[in-house]
Amino acid sequence: MAVQKNKISMKNISKTFTTRTGDVSVLKDVSINVFENEFLVILGPGQCGKTVLMNILAGLEQPTGGEVVFADGTPKMGDLGIVFQKYYIYPWKNVMQNVELSQEVKGVDKKTRRESAQKYIDLVGLSGFEKSIPRELSGGMKQRVGIARAYATESDIMIMDEPFGALDAQTRYQMQEEILKIWEKKKRTVIFVTSNLEEAIYLGDRIILLGGSPTSVKAEYIPDMPRPRNYTSKEFLDLRNEIADNTDLAL
Ligand SMILES: Nc1ncnc2c1ncn2[C@@H]1O[C@H](COP(=O)(O)OP(=O)(O)OP(=O)(O)O)[C@@H](O)[C@H]1O
Ligand SMILES: [Mg+2]
Repeated sequence: MAVQKNKISMKNISKTFTTRTGDVSVLKDVSINVFENEFLVILGPGQCGKTVLMNILAGLEQPTGGEVVFADGTPKMGDLGIVFQKYYIYPWKNVMQNVELSQEVKGVDKKTRRESAQKYIDLVGLSGFEKSIPRELSGGMKQRVGIARAYATESDIMIMDEPFGALDAQTRYQMQEEILKIWEKKKRTVIFVTSNLEEAIYLGDRIILLGGSPTSVKAEYIPDMPRPRNYTSKEFLDLRNEIADNTDLAL
């Protein structure tokens, strides 16, 4: 394998919340390296601290211990492409306005940001829906808006926190294929969070398995299978069993 350039290092990240009922330690010594242009999957059970970790990575929350180091320097607020777990799109803005927002907040002029937004609307397959507002769109389409907006930041780092969690199974499979196609067309460093084991194996160049209480890194897996991967192939099922055996919580 070619030498991989390190893009992000999460070093011994710990997070403890102080609540009315006492301290809650959510993350402990989480260390993860992310390589340039890889599709990294972070797999962990519900409530284990995945979103907290992504918020720390994105600079939206401070760790109690440890640090995040970006090889190209710490990005400024709004510089990272983030797809949130909940559809984080403005209901009163149409598709075009939602996507161009990434650049609008940076003061990019209207013509430039429209052109850029159009490029990503086309990329995620929403051409023709530019003027639609979110309530006129299906769940899958709303999530595409979120993906297009994250891409439109032009960040080379994309954080996707369970982007397909709210979708029905059929749409979810379709979106998994789509997101790989988009990534292959436009390589970026992707950190994709999921609690779905099959989704992790279908997508990941590498899978980091989280577990324990407080949560830390349990294991790393490299699915050695060409894409598109087949959910029912022997290699797929073998890896599924191997990971399932290593986790005590239902995934
Ligand atoms: N601000 C906060 N104060 C106290 N506890 C918090 C806070 N934010 C998160 N937590 C706790 O941290 C834990 C992890 O939350 P988090 O949302 O990161 O889990 P998750 O792995 O993303 O779950 P899910 O799979 O449901 O998205 C939860 O127990 C949650 O209650
Ligand atoms: Mg979460």
